[in-house]
Amino acid sequence: MTDVPTRHLGSLAVSAQGLGCMGMSHGYGASDDAQSIATLHHALDLGVTLLDTADFYGAGHNEELIGRAVAGRRDQVVLATKFGFANRLGEPVRVRGDAAYVRQACEASLRRLGVDHIDLYYQHRVDPQVPIEETVGAMAELVQAGKVRHLGLSEAGAHTLRRAHAVHPITALQSEWSLWTRDLEAEIAPVCRELGIGLVPFSPLGRGFLTGRYSSVDELSETDMRRGQPRFADGNLERNLAIVAQLNELAEAKGVTTGQLALAWVQHRGDDVVPIPGTRRQRYLEENLAALAIELSAEELAAIEAAAPAEEIAGTRYDATSLTFVDN
Ligand SMILES: NC(=O)c1ccc[n+]([C@@H]2O[C@H](COP(=O)([O-])OP(=O)(O)OC[C@H]3O[C@@H](n4cnc5c(N)ncnc54)[C@H](OP(=O)(O)O)[C@@H]3O)[C@@H](O)[C@H]2O)c1
Repeated sequence: MTDVPTRHLGSLAVSAQGLGCMGMSHGYGASDDAQSIATLHHALDLGVTLLDTADFYGAGHNEELIGRAVAGRRDQVVLATKFGFANRLGEPVRVRGDAAYVRQACEASLRRLGVDHIDLYYQHRVDPQVPIEETVGAMAELVQAGKVRHLGLSEAGAHTLRRAHAVHPITALQSEWSLWTRDLEAEIAPVCRELGIGLVPFSPLGRGFLTGRYSSVDELSETDMRRGQPRFADGNLERNLAIVAQLNELAEAKGVTTGQLALAWVQHRGDDVVPIPGTRRQRYLEENLAALAIELSAEELAAIEAAAPAEEIAGTRYDATSLTFVDN
């Protein structure tokens, strides 16, 4: 074990950086299960405790994979999973948050994970057809039944957070937060702080783009979902690459990689912030964890932010349909 520091999401203690497991089953092209399990084991060996999955990732494959990886090591792990997308990838989005669905989804996740409880159970997207009180009420019953320890929401708006938290304490909000997605800073993060809700930034590396690794979508496999995301589209990609070029220079001057610079910036958002960079590779995992030790001065933070101003980020973070399901 290394000395990965601990941070708290509400009352839940977790490693200061978690591991996003989505790409091991979903979204970013073909994966190799043996490689993914080796990366998961390496993460636990290095002191990562928070593993992030969802029933949606690979239509259950990701939870089964995590279940295999944590078998025999359950006590070392804070298992976070999500429910809410009732469609499969590629089908029209269908979000469900009715009480019967919450109960059914939890049973299915417990079975796939091979565990008797989930440490942090998130609603993946708020169901606009169902009052949040019903959804969180059903989630609270899972806590009372011992099947879930802590509750979370993903991409919920400020008003929903308040209503949800009035039903049962919400431990964490998992939403996109990175140098190129800062939407939650104005209204949502302050509400989380007022209520004591921890913040879990997803896609903190801008889906890999902020590592400086990509210069063309030709580098992505045919099945990679980033091909359909506006920021990777022709015209936008070139403009976003100009931003990454500036981040590359700042990283080089600091003696770190561009991905580490981007992660360190997220980690400097506050002690209640626990990013979950996603990777399938041990090498990237180690590089990302090393970013925990990077200190950025106020001048360095300002220079990083000046290199990536919101008005210069080209393209929305999701397509128009997916955007209707965030910040609800
Ligand atoms: N709640 C939600 O709606 C939601 C949405 C999206 C994601 N998430 C969660 O957040 C996690 C992280 O988000 P994400 O995976 O979308 O995006 P991300 O963490 O910003 O980036 C992941 C991508 O960056 C690459 N990468 C990681 N470390 C790298 C490094 N040091 N150098 C170069 N490339 C590196 C990965 O490559 P390899 O995979 O090839 O290693 C992968 O392609 C997911 O795994 C998932 O658990 C949640």
